[in-house]
Amino acid sequence: MRSNIVAGNWKMNNDLAASNALVHEIMNQVAELTLENTRVIVAPTFVNLSSVVEVAKESAVEVAAQNMHQAASGAFTGEISGEMLKGIGIESVILGHSERRAYFGEDDALLAEKVNGALKNNLEVIFCFGEELEDRKSDNHFNVVESQLKNGVFHLEAAAWKNIVLAYEPVWAIGTGETASPEQAQEMHAFIRNLIVDTYGAEVANEVSILYGGSVKPANATEIFSNPDVDGGLIGGAALNADDFVSLVKSF
Ligand code: 13P
Repeated sequence: MRSNIVAGNWKMNNDLAASNALVHEIMNQVAELTLENTRVIVAPTFVNLSSVVEVAKESAVEVAAQNMHQAASGAFTGEISGEMLKGIGIESVILGHSERRAYFGEDDALLAEKVNGALKNNLEVIFCFGEELEDRKSDNHFNVVESQLKNGVFHLEAAAWKNIVLAYEPVWAIGTGETASPEQAQEMHAFIRNLIVDTYGAEVANEVSILYGGSVKPANATEIFSNPDVDGGLIGGAALNADDFVSLVKSF
């Protein structure tokens, strides 16, 4: 059975002390819950990963990276490899976030290489994708999402999908306060699962967790997460506050 996942993408927020304090608070609150088939993940910035891994070890809270380089090592100044992440106890990495695509020029071809690099290191990939506002207005959102998925992850063999989590994040809903309606989310998530069925079959498709991201907060989470094809969320702003974040976990 696929897992529900609530993952917090801290983006470029929180220094070392704030990162440790936030994960500590989240751990304490999560320890009070009975997590039934629900995973809780936080993704701090690179420099604070080691420390957060140390704080969160032996807790139910998992730690992910926000990005990585596709190569194993070499002359790539300023970059971090999958092997290095694995070496400090990281098990998952977010790839393809719309901010990476928009501000750092990451395209589908590069992302496919990053996905391969991550899987080679036995990292789970939280693969992000989603349409821009113009795409939705011109009724092109399904085409955009299909092409991002086909180019980014559909080259994989079926067996690799056990290490893939998808995160549909419509760009127009990220950090804007505007959320996709529960119907819009379900419609897109069902479309995505059907694409996986078409290529890999129902068995693979039913095991893939598909997260929604974009202005998820305590006030709207239950409605969005209760859709049959929405298996949780990738959370930005609301992940920076332990009470808000853990209340999203409780909405399952
Ligand atoms: P917000 O929840 O702040 O809209 O951010 C979503 C996001 O980008 C998570 O990766």
